[in-house]
Parts: sequence; structure tokens; C-alpha cells
Amino acid sequence: MSTAINDLELIAPLADEQELLALERKYCSWGDTVHYLDPPKFFERAEGHYLYDREGTPYLDLQMWYSAASFGYGNQRLNQALKDQIDKLPQLACQYLHSEKVELAAAIGRLNESKFGLEGRVHFNVGGAQAIEDSLKIVRNSTGKNLVFAFMGGYHGRTLGASAITSSYRYRRRFGHFADRAHFVPFPYCFRCPYGKKVEDCGLYCVDQFAKNFDTEYNSFWDPKAGEAEFAAFYAEPIQATGGYVIPPREYFPALKKILNERNILLVDDEIQMGFYRAGKFWAMENFDVDPDIIVFGKALTNGLNPLSGLWAREELISPEVFPPGSTHSTFSSNPLGTAVGMEAVRMMEEENYEEITQRKGAYFLAQIRDLHRRYPKVIGDTDGMGMALRIEICHEDGFEPDRELTDKIFAEGMKGNLDARGRRTGLVLDIGGYYKNVFTLAPCFDMTEDEIDIAVELFEQLIRRCAPERI
Ligand SMILES: Cc1ncc(COP(=O)(O)O)c(C=O)c1O
Repeated sequence: MSTAINDLELIAPLADEQELLALERKYCSWGDTVHYLDPPKFFERAEGHYLYDREGTPYLDLQMWYSAASFGYGNQRLNQALKDQIDKLPQLACQYLHSEKVELAAAIGRLNESKFGLEGRVHFNVGGAQAIEDSLKIVRNSTGKNLVFAFMGGYHGRTLGASAITSSYRYRRRFGHFADRAHFVPFPYCFRCPYGKKVEDCGLYCVDQFAKNFDTEYNSFWDPKAGEAEFAAFYAEPIQATGGYVIPPREYFPALKKILNERNILLVDDEIQMGFYRAGKFWAMENFDVDPDIIVFGKALTNGLNPLSGLWAREELISPEVFPPGSTHSTFSSNPLGTAVGMEAVRMMEEENYEEITQRKGAYFLAQIRDLHRRYPKVIGDTDGMGMALRIEICHEDGFEPDRELTDKIFAEGMKGNLDARGRRTGLVLDIGGYYKNVFTLAPCFDMTEDEIDIAVELFEQLIRRCAPERI
């Protein structure tokens, strides 16, 4: 006979950290996240660009929830928008309309009209990978094809469809055959050029290599008689995020887009991590002067307050005549809490000059880490940045061979919470990315002042000095 639920003690009162870790080991799936640290770290509170652990120790956060909380933890204006919506219209089935959904879609639609001179519509979902799934449906629906190009080192999420176009086999290995696996193309990662070239004089060799695919039908991509490619779209992050904040040369995307246009292949721009000014422009792709056919977004649209994602597509790909009601549907897709916060975030982006803010602060931050690079050449192999998306690549003494071990050590040391921020005991929250897991991908809060950026860099330097004393 089963016990009545009321007789069970389902929620243990006031568990301490050790008890919580034991519960986590027993009851939590480890499959829904990554377990970088052993044991994983608990945090209790967040404010501005700091996380606070259960003892109240502050940790300066340089990754801001993988760039989802760009406008700062506990941003008063966005929090207030959420609270107001909770009191006004907190729940509503998506089949009914609410003004915030329509206004947010119109705001993004108008913005893209002005940026690209293109008409289009906005489609919502929850979470980046789901929006990627929706974009795949739009591509398939409008082209009748399901093969796509994507980049080596690219990351588009971990649902089945998104895993098929994400380069890491590791994310597919245990889940059977992926018939729609993308054809992966080398990304212009110039510090480690896949073709062994130097960016100064390569003449965009990688683009030429891509163009060659269409030279003859025997290369397997193109039917010259039909004038048709077997591939429907190219999925691209303008700056590779999980791949290590890899920034392509400015001329790369225009050259690639020219080929895609000639071959009638759609460009799907994944702005989930770089959108909303992370890279100094509303859309990171704007840095490269290219018009995408579809833009996929998520994360920072709600400053991480609500899992709202979406896509914008050109009118001819998404009009109700071609993509009718119910083509995708999710219970929570355009939920009123998410759209209300997203609306306020876009209003805030319209009022504040985030282009100037992120470019100015990003340039300041980049100058600081370039200085670190100059002073610690036996630890740092490469630094780069665009807007407030910055990278520090940790290498062995030769300045090139990736040093994953040291990267992990620095990361773990930062999480101990015992650095000295000008007399205040502090931790440093970092995130590791990169093809060789040796890159610190920095996504600092947009509100950081220059003085706070200095403190962050000082903390990073302390980590280098602690973790690699023999190389300084
Ligand atoms: C570029 C990019 N695309 C897609 C995703 C997947 O988004 P989500 O984790 O919300 O599913 C991410 C997440 O980090 C991302 O960075």
C-alpha cells in the first residue's frame, strides 16, 4: 500500500551544504547541466555583477550566465517589469493575444526593417535550442530540403535537431544515428587557421575552399543542370561562442554570403549568445555588414529572468500563407511574463546607447587583457574581443599549444572565493570554452565601470600568479 503524500517529509528543512550535495548526488539528473567543478558550487544570492555563496562571499562574475544576464543580476528596471506583469496578466494560453507579445514582435520587426531593409516576422519559443528547432522547420518548409551547412566549432544547443547541427560528436555519440547531421565547414579561427595560413596574407583562402564545393557536381553539393544546391541553409554564429569567442575577420561573412546568394542557400544567423549588444551591436552580424535570412535569439532578451527565445525570418519564409498557424507550438512560447520583460529590455536598449557603452567598455577591457597577454606570454597565447565578448586563450610556454590543465586549474582556483579584491575576499566566476577547452570566454556585465573592470583583471592576474608561478 502506498503512503499518503501528506505523511512523507518531501522537503527536508534547512539542509546544510553537505546534505544538499548528498541530495543532489542522489536525486538530480546530471544530464541536464555540466559538472565542471567537483563538488559543484552553491550560490545563494545575485546582484549586479556579483554572485554570493552561502557564506556571503562575493564572486565577481565574468560570464553572466553565459551572456544571458548582460544587464546585471537583479536589474531593477527589468525586475520591476516582471513584477508588474505578475500583478497584471501573469498567465495566458498562447492561443490568445496579449499586447506585450505583439509589441515585442513589432519592435524587433521594425528594428530589422531599419537595419536590413527587409520585412519579416517574429516567432517565439522558450530556450535557444527550441528556437533553433523552429528555424530548422522554417528552412525545411520553405526549401523542401533538410540538409544544412554549419561550422566546425559551432554550438546551437542540445535538443536532437540542434545537436545535429552542432559540431561536437560528443553531444551526439550516445543518441543514435543523426541522418540530418550538418556538413561542417572550417570556421575562420585565424589564431589556429585550419588551413595553416596567416590572416595577413591568406586572401580568405577558407572562403575559396568553400566556393570550390560548387565547382562541379562531383563535389557532391551542386546540380549544375538544375542550378540547385542539395543544401538549404548555412547556420552561423557571427562570433563562435562555446567555440571560444572566436571572432572572424571582417571580410569573411560578406564573402561567404556572396557565395550563399549565388547558390540560393539561406543564411541563418544564431544570435542566441551574441545578440543584444554582447558584441557591440544589437545583432553581432551587423559588425560584418551582412543581411541574414533568419535570426535566432534568446538568452539576454529577458536578462535571464524568463526563458524566452525566438526568431525573426524574412516575410516570404514565415508569412502565414507559407508557415500556417500551429506549424510549431509550445505551451509557454510567447508567455506574458517573458514578453513583458523582453519588451522592457528592448525599450531600455532603445533609450540607452548600448552600442557606445559596450564598444567603449569592451575596448577598455580588451586593452587590459592585451596588457596581461604581453606580461604573461608563457601563459596566454591569444586575446581578442568585439564589444563585450572577450577571449583569453591559455597556452603552454610556447604561446600556442593549448593548456587545458592550467585553464581548469585557474577556473577552479577562482571558485575558491579567496582572492583579494583590494582588501575584500572575493571569488572570480569564469567560463571555459574553445575547441581545446583552453579559452576563457568573458561576457562581463554591461554595467561594469572601468574601475570594476580593473578589479576583474587584477583578480585574473592573481589567478595566473597562483596557478602558474613557474611561468611568470
Ligand atoms: C550560439 C548558441 N546557440 C544556441 C544555444 C542554445 O541555447 P539554450 O541553451 O538556451 O538552449 C546557445 C547556448 O549557449 C548558444 O550559445
